[in-house]
Amino acid sequence: VSPIDLFEAMRTTGSTRAFSSEELPDEVLESAFEAARFGPSGGNRQPVRWVVVRDPDLKRALADLYALLQARDLEALRSGELRLGSDVEEMVEKANEFAAGLAEVPAMLVACVVLADLHNHMSGADGPNMIAGSCVYPIVQNLCLALRAQGVGSTITTLLCEREAEVAELLAVPDGMLCACHLAVGYPRRPFPARLRRLPVSELVVHDRFERA
Ligand SMILES: Cc1cc2nc3c(=O)[nH]c(=O)nc-3n(C[C@H](O)[C@H](O)[C@H](O)COP(=O)(O)O)c2cc1C
Repeated sequence: VSPIDLFEAMRTTGSTRAFSSEELPDEVLESAFEAARFGPSGGNRQPVRWVVVRDPDLKRALADLYALLQARDLEALRSGELRLGSDVEEMVEKANEFAAGLAEVPAMLVACVVLADLHNHMSGADGPNMIAGSCVYPIVQNLCLALRAQGVGSTITTLLCEREAEVAELLAVPDGMLCACHLAVGYPRRPFPARLRRLPVSELVVHDRFERA
């Protein structure tokens, strides 16, 4: 694989929703984990643990769970209850394609977090809060970039986190760990996008203060 410029990788690491049947070598995953682990975490407590799911029955079980949740979300999309930052029809098509092929992806990666390694302010009486993810997702994005650099596509999903208990049972996740997200990983069936559709910087950044209306 030829080297890829970091900025180029950042602009083109989109969600890969359709995968080729090409086998994904363990070494490719290994080198992605090797690079991803250098991501930051609060207090450098490094709370992320990974499960690499390759077993066909386990992938099928996860895909079946996913399909149920996705069907519900598509319903909410159609009724306008769920908002999107992209074209609805295009997104529905991609989401369906993704769900339909999920059991056959070369690997599903599950990012688990060791709760004891989160700072106290991340875990209140109601369990981990929004800040908890901040110790996980920089490493997850590092992984996506390291895969992209090797020509491998990925899609992050958090949908399965809703069925934490079932996923934990399937993957024998130990007590004291939670799944933070699941990634489908493999060589893309179509070329990577030349550039992803995102809001321009002018709509994203304010200097010093937001303007009050
Ligand atoms: C936290 C998170 C959760 C996501 N969950 C899903 C999901 O359940 N299903 C899915 O198809 N894509 C999921 N995605 C992918 C987003 O839909 C995708 O990043 C967004 O639509 C932009 O797509 P693009 O990067 O291909 O332009 C998720 C992404 C993130 C960061």
